[in-house]
Amino acid sequence: MSDTFEELRQGFERDCAAITDAESWKAVRDKYLAREGGAITAAMKRLRTLPKEERPLFGQKMNELRTLVEGRLEGLLQTAKAAEASGRGMPLDVTRPGFPLASGSAHPIKRLQAEIEQIFVGMGFQIRNLPEIETDYYNFEALNMPRNHPARDAQDTFYFDDTVLLRTHCSSVQPHSLEGATPPVRAISTGKVYRRDPFDATHSPMFYQVDVVAVEKGLTMGDLKGTLGVFLQRVFGREVKMRLRPGFFPFVEPGAEVDIGCIFCGGKGCPTCKGSGWIEILGAGMIHPKVLRMSGVDDGVYSGFAWGMGIDRVAILKYGVDDIRLFFENDLRFLQQF
Ligand code: PHE
Repeated sequence: MSDTFEELRQGFERDCAAITDAESWKAVRDKYLAREGGAITAAMKRLRTLPKEERPLFGQKMNELRTLVEGRLEGLLQTAKAAEASGRGMPLDVTRPGFPLASGSAHPIKRLQAEIEQIFVGMGFQIRNLPEIETDYYNFEALNMPRNHPARDAQDTFYFDDTVLLRTHCSSVQPHSLEGATPPVRAISTGKVYRRDPFDATHSPMFYQVDVVAVEKGLTMGDLKGTLGVFLQRVFGREVKMRLRPGFFPFVEPGAEVDIGCIFCGGKGCPTCKGSGWIEILGAGMIHPKVLRMSGVDDGVYSGFAWGMGIDRVAILKYGVDDIRLFFENDLRFLQQF
């Protein structure tokens, strides 16, 4: 209800600012006070359609607004007439109320991205800001996917030319952080990735990922599971069940697909988890010795783990959104719910 008053009041103030003579004054008066079709008259008529208990307040507010409008218009008519007579135009009205600026807020995906980064900062990881326009080498080759490797097909790629492309994942954080570094290395990279996917409820040609890399002496799958468990719990803000299934990614060995216990049904089975009680959420594994070697890390001394996850996907689960497109359409009615 208060929105109606505020909108009316602001619209009125705006219209008043455009009054320059008696004629434009009359147009504004009619717009708000005309017996037929005046905005305030029309709002008054709505009084009858409101539930009984809302009527007194609405009526009182409407009367206040009408008094304000009538008062302002009365003063403005004198000023407009004088301005017309003198030919000098309307004086600057320094008493006119200002318009509040609507304050924006961060997009839900951006906010989740920042939250995720904070979780990793808390665990001692470094944040790497890496290019979205990437070379074939860092996106594929250094990750054990040489040219013509069949795994490349799974990430249908936007190419600029033979060697430059839009990154298809954030896993480039592995070679970028390992090259020239002396372990321990703990780094993450978050940001947009691009794939030639259709735009539908569950796919988008652009989405957000976070990729994690940790390399030092003696790291094992147990460290991967432990770190991942803490991360998932922090990101969802509650205890989440997790399971690792064998999975293939050329840059890890062994590789795993990670599921979390369905956060909608608690594992009982529902439409979101297709009755299984589990939701696939990310890919992970121990960094392939070849990947370590290609980046100049001695795989005889060091080992490491990595995982990569869609941030939009987490947002969908965390906020219970059923269509990824909603995040990119920038409809304020959707965004203001966060
Ligand atoms: N880059 C993989 C993807 O985009 C995810 C992944 C990252 C898997 C790191 C294993 C290790 O699907």
